[in-house]
Amino acid sequence: MLLGGTVTDQHSPALENLLSETRSFPPSAEFAARANAQPELYERAAADRLGFWADQARNYLTWSKPFTEVLDFSGAPTARWFADGQLNAAYNAVDRHVEAGHGDRVAILFEGEPGDTRSLTYADLKDEVSRAANALGALGVSTGDRVAIYLPMIPEAVIAMLACARIGATHSVVFGGFSAEALFSRITDADAKLVITADGGYRRGKPSALKPAVDEALTKGATNVTNVLVVARTEQDVAWTDGRDVWWHEALAGASTEHTPVPVDAEHPLFILYTSGTTGKPKGILHTTGGYLTQCAYTHSVVFDLKPETDVYWCTADVGWVTGHSYVTYGPLINGATQVLYEGTPDTPHKGRWWEIVAKYQVTILYTAPTAIRTCMKWGEQVPAEFDLSSLRVLGSVGEPINPEAWMWYRRVIGADRTPIVDTWWQTETGAIMISPLPGVTAARPGSAQTPLPGISADIWNDAGEPVGKGGGGYLVLDEPWPSMLRGIWGDPERFKDTYWSRFPGTYFAGDGAKYDEDGNIWLLGRVDDVMNVSGHRLSTTEIESALVSHDWVAEAAVVGASDDTTGQAVVAFVILRGEAVERADEAGEGHDVVAELRNHVAKEIGPIAKPRSILVVAELPKTRSGKIMRRLLRDVAEHRPVGDVTTLADTSVMDLISSGLNAAP
Ligand code: WT7
Repeated sequence: MLLGGTVTDQHSPALENLLSETRSFPPSAEFAARANAQPELYERAAADRLGFWADQARNYLTWSKPFTEVLDFSGAPTARWFADGQLNAAYNAVDRHVEAGHGDRVAILFEGEPGDTRSLTYADLKDEVSRAANALGALGVSTGDRVAIYLPMIPEAVIAMLACARIGATHSVVFGGFSAEALFSRITDADAKLVITADGGYRRGKPSALKPAVDEALTKGATNVTNVLVVARTEQDVAWTDGRDVWWHEALAGASTEHTPVPVDAEHPLFILYTSGTTGKPKGILHTTGGYLTQCAYTHSVVFDLKPETDVYWCTADVGWVTGHSYVTYGPLINGATQVLYEGTPDTPHKGRWWEIVAKYQVTILYTAPTAIRTCMKWGEQVPAEFDLSSLRVLGSVGEPINPEAWMWYRRVIGADRTPIVDTWWQTETGAIMISPLPGVTAARPGSAQTPLPGISADIWNDAGEPVGKGGGGYLVLDEPWPSMLRGIWGDPERFKDTYWSRFPGTYFAGDGAKYDEDGNIWLLGRVDDVMNVSGHRLSTTEIESALVSHDWVAEAAVVGASDDTTGQAVVAFVILRGEAVERADEAGEGHDVVAELRNHVAKEIGPIAKPRSILVVAELPKTRSGKIMRRLLRDVAEHRPVGDVTTLADTSVMDLISSGLNAAP
């Protein structure tokens, strides 16, 4: 078969349909009266933006040395917030709740995929994080060092992040679905000294190994990794390198529960998180401490209306993504929340697993991604209907635009037509939520992220850098600095400037297209660069193309994101093969299931999430006279649309060839 999967005929709904969406869901009077965020918040922030942020930094955080400066943007585009203050992230997330008498409050309700459970109070968390911090110290990790974390969604993931923060080491979490190759490049780019991993985690009903990928990554080239700390989760057999590998439980068993958090400057690097850009090499997005934590905690409180004494919060994101950093580890714990942490997949052992968890723990706030909602829609509303979801009171969405149909389904089926929905727009780079309704204030408009939060300034500009105003469309920009903004790309200041600050000199360009409706609500329209959004995960077309051409059989490759009903976009690849290489493999008896081979190759190079949904073998690729691949035309093919304007192609017959090849596919 030529195509690795099906290319659907569905397109995302036309913009005109979106903008004619006028349904409005105002908060109930009851909700509004009790909400953390009141309408005055917008006025206060507008009247004195920096004073507003200074108030949030003092309200939500405990500083070991109070700050006197708020914003210093003299080194633009790198901002410094609260720069003369000092604090410790782990102290703020854990210790101070214990000191305030909340040590018995549950911090983490862990649900393993096989059904095992653990509950950790804030006092337990303080002991575990302290032990882990002491263990890291014993392995020679200290303030300023980098630590790579490659773990499943188990409490140790959160504990490891906080243990790093406690000693002032900078963590770089690598999603467990990334390959050894991807892990290696992240370990070397960040120059990590230690890797924290597990034997494996449970996924889709069986143990899935992690440690072998670390072992393999560390053979790919020179690194400065001196130790690998290994959590025993699945008890699978693992290879062991004496002197390098250390069991987590053994290291912690001998460690004291007493540990003094290291106060760091507000601008001390808290973490690096790699994300895909428009070139082949992922960017190490750098976040620092004071401003980042301020905005995480503030947004977590006002957007989700968290009441720490009574709410049970659940964000389904993995800590391998920024959502897991800001809304699993830092935001909720700084706010003293009780939260669910679930290890596995939504359909193991049955399609109602998430709803079973909501009912079991009486979850009140649920934060997830549109792709998950659309998947549940496909499974049918009879599945959630079997569970008691009446505890839910706020629903959140993040990662990609949520289409109005999915929004309405989420509200009606999961939220019993009662709960506010917050559609939160932000990015790895922004660190925390930027544009979102406030659940007790905003009349919600299905499908729109609506309004910049109090304290945040965003706008939509045209090509010339002029504001488009109501009803207009263009590029989303953030035209004032914000506390949790990235402080740079690790080791690459030039790329930082080029990527975000050069499209409109001096203003942050997010990479997203957007439009205002007549009421001034912001509608996000997806990326305008070569970045795809697959299931809320950012993938680079160029990165997948490089992975494909690194295979012997491939002479050239072009990748596009085609719209997909469930995942938002799907990876579709067009490849030109090296005929002789395929024949040689064939003769050597290696077979020539080109599509399967290349899909697996991408999984090996980047990770299973980057596997193309379909791979089309073609004889030529459409290029302009200057040699640039016209992805727009390939997208037309992938989405089964009539191919658009081909007049700028060097050879206009190429598209006929590709289209006929596609139609001839069995
Ligand atoms: C890109 C950022 C933020 C955590 C998850 C993704 C898209 C994100 C929304 C939303 C429309 C959204 C944007 C953005 N995006 N949230 N609510 N509505 N689009 O983080 O991997 O850094 O990706 O995701 O295109 O630029 P990320």
